Amino acid sequence: MRKEHDLIENVKYVEMDGQTYLMPSHLQIEVVGGKGMCNAHCAMCTIDKWERPPTIMTNAVFQSIVDGVAPFNEHIEYVTLHGNGEPLLDKEMASKVKYAKQKGFRGVGFATNCSALTKKRADELLAAGLDTIICSIDGMKKETHEAIRPGTKYEAIVRNVKYLIQARNRSGKTKILVRFIRQELNQHEFPAYKAYWEQVLNPEFGDEVLVFNIHNWGSQLEVGNQINENFGHVHEEIPICADLYHRLLVFPNGDLAFCDADYNGFYDLGNVQKEHFLKLYNGERLNFYRQKMESGKIRELPYCKSCTIPISRANKTEVAGSAEKASPVSNNYKTIPIRVMDQKLPL
Ligand SMILES: C[S@@+](CC[C@H](N)C(=O)[O-])C[C@H]1O[C@@H](n2cnc3c(N)ncnc32)[C@H](O)[C@@H]1O
Ligand code: SF4
Repeated sequence: MRKEHDLIENVKYVEMDGQTYLMPSHLQIEVVGGKGMCNAHCAMCTIDKWERPPTIMTNAVFQSIVDGVAPFNEHIEYVTLHGNGEPLLDKEMASKVKYAKQKGFRGVGFATNCSALTKKRADELLAAGLDTIICSIDGMKKETHEAIRPGTKYEAIVRNVKYLIQARNRSGKTKILVRFIRQELNQHEFPAYKAYWEQVLNPEFGDEVLVFNIHNWGSQLEVGNQINENFGHVHEEIPICADLYHRLLVFPNGDLAFCDADYNGFYDLGNVQKEHFLKLYNGERLNFYRQKMESGKIRELPYCKSCTIPISRANKTEVAGSAEKASPVSNNYKTIPIRVMDQKLPL
């Protein structure tokens, strides 16, 4: 066994066939993805750039991925069933959740815009044993939420989330997180939002209000709706991205994605139905990126060099932590224009 990586916390390695492999702790399966695969059109999302074929992952592909990782499930802390796209467009989401739970995975959950979170779907998901759901709500006022999340109806979403909470309180165990993507359009509403949702949620089940600062999706997004006080200086403080050591994201056709920010398949990294996920996760391209980061050269890497995901993660609310332990989020945000992104990639 190799010793833990000294720059990133809790990095794990496993042995397989006499070889040592970096082991992700977070399996992310994009059950719904590709062009147009959302019922909303959010201001801060990469949706306009999605070019992969619209796909809902079949149960057969899902089960083969889950089966492939199951022998290592003790190392997986989270199984997230969204990537890009809206996961509830998959009518069979509850059966996928149930399957992952039957295979012994912890932390099975996903984020949703809650438009399709009807009573029936909520009941099915609770019965399937969903561990966590992240409800994406981006304003305290209808106008704010709908300006950020066009295509969604604020009242309907609030009604859906309230039903989910009541149903879970009656019979269920799912942790319900309400998440606010803090950006210029809504940041002033966060105190009222937090106070409101903390009254509605139930801490007995671990429910929480989360805040996550808007990021630029691997340097891919230009929006004028940005906040991030350290934008442009991210890598002076965070020279290495933990996602490349912890997360493994699989697209609906089984292709391995580069990272959470990857919406079109930045590189051909192989398909987990054809090759073992550990071999792909420890493949040449990803290792090249890791080595560059470890030698202090993150600024030479396309996508990573001005990605603001690491700084948003560093400032996020800790899900499992107490209110005291949650990272403080500064109020001194200012608007900083996002830089023009790389079009041609040298790697
Ligand atoms: C791409 S969405 C997919 C899941 C689902 N459609 C939803 O909106 O929750 C995943 C998460 O990314 C968040 N998100 C979208 N654009 C973002 C950005 N620029 N910065 C930070 N988070 C973002 C969404 O709010 C959501 O919580
Ligand atoms: S609901 Fe989610 S996937 Fe859809 S546009 Fe908004 S952030 Fe993107």
